Amino acid sequence: MRSLSGERLPVPPVWMMRQAGRYLPEYRAARAKARDFLQLCYTPELAAEITLQPVRRFGFDGAIMFADILLIAHALGSKVWFADGEGPRLSPISNSRDIDRLKHPDDIHETLSPVYRTLQLAGPELPASSTLIGFAGAPWTVATYMIAGRGVPNQAPALSFLSEEPSAFARLMDLLTEATSRYLARQAEGGAEVLMIFDSWAGSLPGGSFESCAVDPVRRIVRSVKSRYPRMPVIVYPRGAGDRYAGFARATGADCVGLDETVDPNWAASTLQRDSCVQGNLPPRRLVEGGDQLVAETRRIVRAFADGPHVFNLGHGITPDADPGNVELMLQTIRGDRP
Ligand code: CP3
Repeated sequence: MRSLSGERLPVPPVWMMRQAGRYLPEYRAARAKARDFLQLCYTPELAAEITLQPVRRFGFDGAIMFADILLIAHALGSKVWFADGEGPRLSPISNSRDIDRLKHPDDIHETLSPVYRTLQLAGPELPASSTLIGFAGAPWTVATYMIAGRGVPNQAPALSFLSEEPSAFARLMDLLTEATSRYLARQAEGGAEVLMIFDSWAGSLPGGSFESCAVDPVRRIVRSVKSRYPRMPVIVYPRGAGDRYAGFARATGADCVGLDETVDPNWAASTLQRDSCVQGNLPPRRLVEGGDQLVAETRRIVRAFADGPHVFNLGHGITPDADPGNVELMLQTIRGDRP
């Protein structure tokens, strides 16, 4: 919370994207208690337990609530399922009529109320030193999955929809912007102390659309959240934005910008960190490989950002093949308690 408000701390706080996940045996055990991944997200007792697991094991300074960015698509009426080993699947949106069939943004809470309950359960169990983080996907990233019906590498279906049916596309983006604003406000009410917006596919947007699809909707969401919760810090993660990271925090009103691993920390320190706190940006594969490279790169990031507000994190989510021992090594390196 102090870093997000602009304070420079001698040791940066640290948490990891996807910190509750398959690389942890205790996650796999909890996961086995639910029928499928969606049911896991919608069972507050299990989701709260999973939220707390990585904090208990590693003493992270942040706990991200356990849920998924695609729950909002589900709450709006899309079919969503997670095929084992294949990632998410959704009933694809291919025309204006499919959008007509989606629910009104006010009607999402019936489906999403277990998420708010997860926050209510996890909050009181967290140590005072750890911050509870709520989140949502950014409209563009959620739209890419809703349109394609699955994860695709280049976002071609959504980009075609955007150029071929611009008014239907704009309607979908407006609906997601409204729904996401309401979703995040309820998370704040449920006890989230920080909100993060994941725009994992921002980088796939061509120049002309970045402003309208990645900046505008996020700015509207941040404004809406802050109109009700003026002191709520918001982190935005426009993965792959490249040089469009410059000015992004100011343009959206974010308190902190999440950096992917392609961003050079020295460049980010001299440009982005003047505008806002920065979060990132260790490559997740370092936690698979470990060793001297992990230590050296962790130190390099800590040093580069030492003169301004920084939250240590990865550049993207930790992968299932990461070694929990390497997470320990990363933490010891950041906190300086390595022999
Ligand atoms: O620990 C945390 O970070 C909190 C929970 C969280 C999950 N997903 C749990 C999850 C968060 C914040 C997300 C965000 C998310 N989900 C994003 C944005 C961040 C990113 O990674 O770019 C995206 C694009 C999704 C959509 C999604 N969910 C995909 C593509 C997948 C499949 C990928 C995979 O690893 O299998 C998921 C499933 C998912 N979400 C898992 C977890 C722990 C794995 C499911 C399982 O246990 O079987």
